[in-house]
Amino acid sequence: MSGGPIITVDGLTRVFGSFTAVDHVSFEVGRGEIFGYLGANGAGKTTTIRMLCGLLAPTGGRAEVAGNDIAKHPTRVKRAIGYMSQRFSLYLDLEVGENLEFFGGAYGLSGARRAARVEAALELAGLRDRRHAMTRDLPGGVRQRLALASALLHEPAIVFLDEPTAGVDPASRRDFWRLIRSLAAAGTTVFVTTHHLDEAEYCARVGLMVDGRLVALDTPRGLKREHVPGHLWSVGGVSAGRLAEALRGEPAVLQVQPFGNRVHVRTRLGSFADAKSFEGLLTGRGLAAGLTVEATEATLEDVFLELVAAHGRPATEAAS
Ligand SMILES: Nc1ncnc2c1ncn2[C@@H]1O[C@H](COP(=O)(O)OP(=O)(O)OP(=O)(O)O)[C@@H](O)[C@H]1O
Ligand SMILES: [Mg+2]
Repeated sequence: MSGGPIITVDGLTRVFGSFTAVDHVSFEVGRGEIFGYLGANGAGKTTTIRMLCGLLAPTGGRAEVAGNDIAKHPTRVKRAIGYMSQRFSLYLDLEVGENLEFFGGAYGLSGARRAARVEAALELAGLRDRRHAMTRDLPGGVRQRLALASALLHEPAIVFLDEPTAGVDPASRRDFWRLIRSLAAAGTTVFVTTHHLDEAEYCARVGLMVDGRLVALDTPRGLKREHVPGHLWSVGGVSAGRLAEALRGEPAVLQVQPFGNRVHVRTRLGSFADAKSFEGLLTGRGLAAGLTVEATEATLEDVFLELVAAHGRPATEAAS
């Protein structure tokens, strides 16, 4: 983190009645960092963002955003940040350019500066030749780019993106992330939530929320190392059930899990030097014929499953 954190969150809490949606959450985000905030539905991501954007008062703890205390100076916070909400926020019945003019005005821009910022937003969204298109006629991915560009009209230091790629096709998701990375490279801090764990790999650090609590926070690499230690092997040509049965009692084997049409086997660190030597174990258990074995890497999905299993409320409690 260069130049100190731009977001500091300390024991931040939000209670609705008897329900705690955000429970003593603490973290910092550095300037120009892409910070991923992950968690299942209802984990408390949007509630955290609304507090950090000065839109919802915390019931406990404190936070500073771009040097402003969110409880004491919510208006200053709103000026310093851009917010792309989880619900599409632009007017569907306005033209692209009209939406940008309107939101530019709402952010306090006028005259030549507003005109220049609208042009920059059209450029960023790749919509220079579609300024007169009706917003409702844009494909989902393009709409999201427009929403991002509109959240950046007033050149905020930080932008909060709440599930910006929900319902967006994979190619447009990739384009969207290219945009996020170029923003961060130019110094804008990006706070982003997503349910796409492949996208979280692009984040410098990732915080994971489970039932209102921040249960892990690290680089994607650090999270994998800590929560999914060992080696991971991808095995094809056998069912997870059969493989688990054959490997039962093998001390080096930590986990056997189906993964798409293959099976992932996690073994203790240092147990097998390469795929060949792991295959030797399978041969020894009478399983080699027709199998394919490859070394693979843990994903954030593996981390997520581990942490939710370790920290989630029991199903009965969560349902009540
Ligand atoms: N105004 C409110 N009044 C009562 N409960 C609320 C309110 N806002 C949020 N909640 C509850 O707080 C919890 C966290 O909600 P939040 O929207 O922050 O989750 P989320 O992580 O953003 O989920 P999702 O991935 O579905 O967007 C949920 O159980 C939600 O029902
Ligand atoms: Mg949400």
